[in-house]
Amino acid sequence: LRRHVVLYVGAEARGRAWARFVAEETGDLELRVWPEAGDLAEVAYLAAWIPPAGLFGKLPNLKAVFSVGAGVDQLDLAAIPAHLPLARMIEPGIEACLTAWVCMAVLALHRDLPAYVAQQRAEVWRALPVRPPAACRVGMLGTGRLGSAAAKALTGLGFPVRGWSRSSEVSFEAVVSASDVLVCLLPLTAQTRGILDARTFALLPRGAGVVNAGRGGHLVEADLRAALASGQVGAAVLDVTAEEPLPAGHAFWGHERIFLTPHVGAVTQTETGIAALVANVRRHLRGEALEGLVDRDRGY
Ligand code: GLV
Repeated sequence: LRRHVVLYVGAEARGRAWARFVAEETGDLELRVWPEAGDLAEVAYLAAWIPPAGLFGKLPNLKAVFSVGAGVDQLDLAAIPAHLPLARMIEPGIEACLTAWVCMAVLALHRDLPAYVAQQRAEVWRALPVRPPAACRVGMLGTGRLGSAAAKALTGLGFPVRGWSRSSEVSFEAVVSASDVLVCLLPLTAQTRGILDARTFALLPRGAGVVNAGRGGHLVEADLRAALASGQVGAAVLDVTAEEPLPAGHAFWGHERIFLTPHVGAVTQTETGIAALVANVRRHLRGEALEGLVDRDRGY
């Protein structure tokens, strides 16, 4: 019986669980957890978050590369041989977790949680106007798997949601200028880097909320601070920052109108993630296109 070897490079506990699953649930696959890689010439598939430098040169029989996360921006695409298909992780656990995080962020802004947290600290009991979700227009930057899942949930809560992506018919300006809360769920590419900048903030209705669940590189941090200081942006909820962990002394730590979570919006879930990875390896073995296949020129 021929075994197809998958090498995993990432969080160790998940790797161990994935190796057990593959051993128990498949007869023809083997998952090895880096650095216990065995004979590298046997490795046919690489599932990695950030592979060690030089690894690709040591895997002569590699057939495909899988990101362990939803993004591929953490990978050095130039280091991955051009003939190898590369796929990002698409799995229902990521969609469910990120949808919940985005709803939390939009609801927190819509229901004035930043103002109420400040009032609570000051022992102030004072009601702000209570508006229905229908009065809070949400702009969703990114209409892929994750943006669509979050938009559907927000629509279900009663928010009017409009999406924008690079292939949209509707203009970026039209969506942003009609967003009481603007959510970024874009992939990070050369085109989207710095998209949340002073120019974008100036388009928003005054006092709008900003949510970043994409990558830290989407946000020009100094521009957000300036927009918060002027009142153009009311508050922001961020799961990602330019430098992670956020450095000691960074202005975001103590900012009253920035709510931060430490890049936890979604994490590839152990059970659903391995099922998705195995299904994608099987697609390759059958000669079918990979799910989440990355177009390297496009960058996602
Ligand atoms: C997390 O940010 C991921 O890409 O899965």
